[in-house]
Amino acid sequence: MSWVSLETSQELYVRKIKDGTVIDHITSGFALDVLKILMINGKDGEAVTAAMNVASKRQTRKDIVKIQNRELKPAEVDKIALIAPNATINIIRDYAVVSKKTVELPTIIKGIIRCDNPSCISNTREPVDPKFRVDHREPVILRCSYCGHFIEREDVLKQF
Ligand code: CTP
Ligand code: ZN
Repeated sequence: MSWVSLETSQELYVRKIKDGTVIDHITSGFALDVLKILMINGKDGEAVTAAMNVASKRQTRKDIVKIQNRELKPAEVDKIALIAPNATINIIRDYAVVSKKTVELPTIIKGIIRCDNPSCISNTREPVDPKFRVDHREPVILRCSYCGHFIEREDVLKQF
């Protein structure tokens, strides 16, 4: 039998994992960006699988990332929400899904992204933390609460 197993007449693109995290329903084409957020480059010996542009029940296409023996930090989940607002984070223990949460993209973003307008007050020596309002969810567009500057998804990705 090949590495593809069958489950309720649907093909699994990547095999089930025993313990770890499955990030599912990632906006198609963004699995590599999720790996970048998690600082996974394949050189640390961790077992990681990624599937890109695969069929999905909910979306037309989706990406999936499976990481064995690792759970995500809240700050990592917050970053994933910016580029894949419909992603689900599934915690797997002994092959079972023990927790499933959809990432949350709040309306106000603080402390993850900096404003890329150099003259913004959040970039001066003033003790002002960057703050943005989510102007558009997917693809994400953020608007700086101080200077009104817009930050698009590609600019967000440059900061990760
Ligand atoms: N998964 C896995 N290894 C396991 C259990 C689940 O890789 N031991 C993967 C599944 O292949 C799926 C995701 O984790 O991509 C979520 O599993 P499950 O909740 O069983 O799937 P669905 O019901 O299809 O999830 P959803 O409703 O979120 O689409
Ligand atoms: Zn600004």
